Formats: sequence, structure tokens, C-alpha cells
Amino acid sequence: MNQTHTFLQRCHGAISSQQRKRIFRQQPVTIWLTGLSGAGKSTIAFELEAQLVSLGHACYVLDGDNIRHGLACDLGFEQKDRRENIRRVAHVAQLMNDAGLIVITALISPMREDRAMARDIIGRDKFIETYLFAPVETCARRDPKGLYAKARSGEIASFTGVSAPYEAPLDPELRIDTATLSSAESVARVFAHLRETSLTTSGQEAGA
Ligand code: ADX
Repeated sequence: MNQTHTFLQRCHGAISSQQRKRIFRQQPVTIWLTGLSGAGKSTIAFELEAQLVSLGHACYVLDGDNIRHGLACDLGFEQKDRRENIRRVAHVAQLMNDAGLIVITALISPMREDRAMARDIIGRDKFIETYLFAPVETCARRDPKGLYAKARSGEIASFTGVSAPYEAPLDPELRIDTATLSSAESVARVFAHLRETSLTTSGQEAGA
């Protein structure tokens, strides 16, 4: 899967990242949401996207369930398939950032090593690891897709938090407790962080 194409050279277009920042009036970053199924990743991702777009930002959500219908439809949930899923999404996010867009990913991305790979692919300065924390019991009680019940009965194998591991981030840029905060409050936390670190309203401020 990971071939080294030593004979291929990268080409560069005439448009610089500074020009793209000026066009979009924003810094392109990837908000990498990680957490258990049912922790609120998709809800928060799409609410955050709606808010950013309503303020005129160019933004797009890469959601795990959606990605698995297309780009990752050949992958399952064993460790190596999850790693490949994360690798592909990280490369797409990197390309979208390169195009000037803000990206929000919503993948369980359970392993530290795989999130570290995503950080390397996307770039340390652009990667905002955001841990959406809720105890597995809370997620299982919510069970919005009925998957915890299926995992516990053995109908689904390797289910994160039940029969497959989740390694909590040790030093994320953001940690949000979705068991106690509403989705609106959680979105507000991410938004506040973006305002402090990377959201800007003029091309000048966007690092031009
Ligand atoms: S990841 O581990 O590779 O990052 P991803 O976020 O793409 O996972 O997909 C998780 C989604 O797939 C869950 O929200 C759930 O709807 C579904 N799913 C199906 N089987 C599993 C499983 N065994 N473990 C976790 N999620 C699963």
C-alpha cells in the first residue's frame, strides 16, 4: 500500500498558500475530532461547519460513516484497515487545507499512533486534535445507531470501546466533555479555540 515513488517529483503551481489565505480570508486548519461512537463527533462537526459557513468561512466535514460509503468502502474495522482509513482521510484533509479550506474530520481514530500519523501528514501547525470525551457507558446509553447493543450481543466484532481499544489522547489541543456539555456548548468551545488560534477575518491577519 505504501510505495515509495522515488522517480516521481512534486510539481508546484503558481498559486501560493498566502494567496489562498487572502482569497478565503482564513487559515486552513484541520479540526481532528476523535472519540467513541456516540460521543458526538458527527453532530458537533456538522454544527461547527454550519456556524463557520454562516460566517463566510470555506469549510468541509469529512465524516467517518460517509467516507466509508466511498473512499474507504473497501475497508473494515481491523486495526490495519482503520489505519488505512485514517491515512486516506488525513491525505484528503491535507489536500483540502492546501486548497485553502478549513476541514473538520469526524473519525473514531482510536489509536494514538494513527492520530500521530495524521498529524504528520496534515502538518503539526494545522492539526487541532480535539478529544470528544464521554464515558463508554454514556455512549452505550445513547446508542444512536443501535451498534453498542449489537456489539454487546456479539453481532458486531471489534467494536471500539466494547471489543476493540480506544486510546485517549494524552495531550490534545482540546478536550471536550460531551457527557456534561450540550452540543451547542461543545461547538462553542471549539469555536473559541479557533478564534484564539487561527480564525481571522481579514487576509492581512491570515498570515499574508
Ligand atoms: S475508525 O476507527 O476507522 O476511525 P470510523 O470513524 O471511520 O472508524 O467509523 C466509525 C463508524 O463506523 C461508527 O460511527 C459506526 O457507525 C460504524 N461502525 C461499524 N462497525 C464498527 C466497529 N466495529 N467499530 C467502530 N465503529 C463501527
